[in-house]
Amino acid sequence: MRFRILSVLLALIATPLFAADHAHHGKPLEQRQAIRLNAEEKAHIHTEMRLFLAVSQKIVAAVAGNDMKRVAEAAREGGMAAAHDVPANLRKKLPLEFKKLGHATHMGFDDLARDADSLGDANHALKQLGQVMGNCVSCHALYRIETSKR
Ligand code: HEC
Repeated sequence: MRFRILSVLLALIATPLFAADHAHHGKPLEQRQAIRLNAEEKAHIHTEMRLFLAVSQKIVAAVAGNDMKRVAEAAREGGMAAAHDVPANLRKKLPLEFKKLGHATHMGFDDLARDADSLGDANHALKQLGQVMGNCVSCHALYRIETSKR
């Protein structure tokens, strides 16, 4: 009997302690895969990311202003031609899926630019932006950067 009470008490105390370590549904809080990069490589990725964010903002603003020429210009800034060359050393550290998602994002912005020029359809551009931004969401859910010395 004593033992029963003790184990119930222990369970009551322990459950919230374990739960604190886990997000909803018992999954660990941090599920993203760590990519180990040095400070310079991390800065390279972050710079590219801020460009992606700026491009997305410009596209939304230009669509809202129904200025499809400006939509095309903005999208092109995020396209393949504007992609910063990834140094070979950094490239080697990036998982294949990461590179695929990055590539798809640049290609998606190029498609958006081309269609904005040829079709001039604001609604279509927004639909494409929604698809391109699916890559942002997927990649952010999968990966995080861990800074290392090398
Ligand atoms: C191929 C993977 C990938 C794609 C695609 C991607 N991101 Fe990122 N993004 C990352 C990673 C990794 C980080 C850094 C996370 C960390 O530091 O732990 C990041 C960070 C960022 C940051 C923070 C930058 C800073 O200076 O702190 C912004 C803003 C961002 N992304 C915006 C975007 C937007 C907008 C898109 C889509 C248009 C996008 N990203 C697409 C992987 C990606």
